Amino acid sequence: MALQGLKNNDLKLIIFGGKGGVGKTSCAIATALALSENFKTLLISTDPAHSISDCLDQHIGYNVVKVSGKANLSAIEVVAEEALSAFINEHQPALKKLLDTSTNLDNDDIEEMLTLSIPGIDEVMSFKTIIDFIEEGVYDKYVVDTAPTGHALRLISSPKMLDEWIKVAARMRWKYRYMITSFSGSYQQDEVDAFLLSLKKTVKRIENILRDNTKCEFVPVCIPESMAILETGRLLSDLSKSEIIARQIIVNNVMVSDEGDFCKKRKLCQMPYIQEISETFCDLNKVEVPMFAEEIKGLHALDQLKMVLFG
Ligand SMILES: Nc1ncnc2c1ncn2[C@@H]1O[C@H](COP(=O)(O)OP(=O)(O)OP(=O)(O)O)[C@@H](O)[C@H]1O
Ligand SMILES: [Mg+2]
Repeated sequence: MALQGLKNNDLKLIIFGGKGGVGKTSCAIATALALSENFKTLLISTDPAHSISDCLDQHIGYNVVKVSGKANLSAIEVVAEEALSAFINEHQPALKKLLDTSTNLDNDDIEEMLTLSIPGIDEVMSFKTIIDFIEEGVYDKYVVDTAPTGHALRLISSPKMLDEWIKVAARMRWKYRYMITSFSGSYQQDEVDAFLLSLKKTVKRIENILRDNTKCEFVPVCIPESMAILETGRLLSDLSKSEIIARQIIVNNVMVSDEGDFCKKRKLCQMPYIQEISETFCDLNKVEVPMFAEEIKGLHALDQLKMVLFG
């Protein structure tokens, strides 16, 4: 079976995730290459280790660049810290005023608070970068490579975490507003209210895209090994709690050759796990990828993987 439906026009955002080292980056890039044959495609890495440069044999970095030799494919490595520090710089006055008007903290404490991270904010900012691209509408398809499971889950749950933070901030604000109204009889909305509102809108925009299963799909990558299957199970259950759809699963590194003792034994070891994947994730289209003799590095190797994934 090959990957299905990724070329549907409505589907914009395709996110690859899974346990460490199972082939997420290779599959994400091969998919971006396939999609770029018909669509203007942006490949986005949110993995702090950023291996798309290594895999493509081309430096990518945190500005969008064209992938050499591929007219329709561009790529970017999103750096959460960069996105976050741009956010803090932009909103420093509002954040300061929020703390100043809603807490008893003195100036030094406020300065210290501003250096502490708001929970989930780095990941939200990575996602905001992606959503901004989608809303600009420059590309038809956005393919996201994530870091191993924990990071992908944090990325996905980040809007919820930030939403909790906004609620607390809004409650603090409400008290301040109540106090002002009691003293002066009226309250004028200020930059802090505008800031919280725009943050809330960002959270909503991210959630709306993630939960729209015509626009967004998550593709888990797994290998026929016990721990990878367990981790994929947890990943899928968390995805479904966040109402994010997965329709198919890539089973990578499948031993096809049974020449020689090593291959025979490896193949035999994998068989029960391949069966377990079919049974455990029976509602997903299963795409098996053979273990190649060589690592997947450079466009030629990626093209071979692309052919397996897309038939
Ligand atoms: N089917 C395959 N056959 C042979 N080598 C493979 C296959 N799939 C991936 N690899 C190799 O396995 C290594 C890990 O692959 P990749 O970087 O795509 O995994 P990953 O899940 O993105 O890893 P990480 O969790 O570190 O980000 C790479 O060296 C890659 O070339
Ligand atoms: Mg990777």
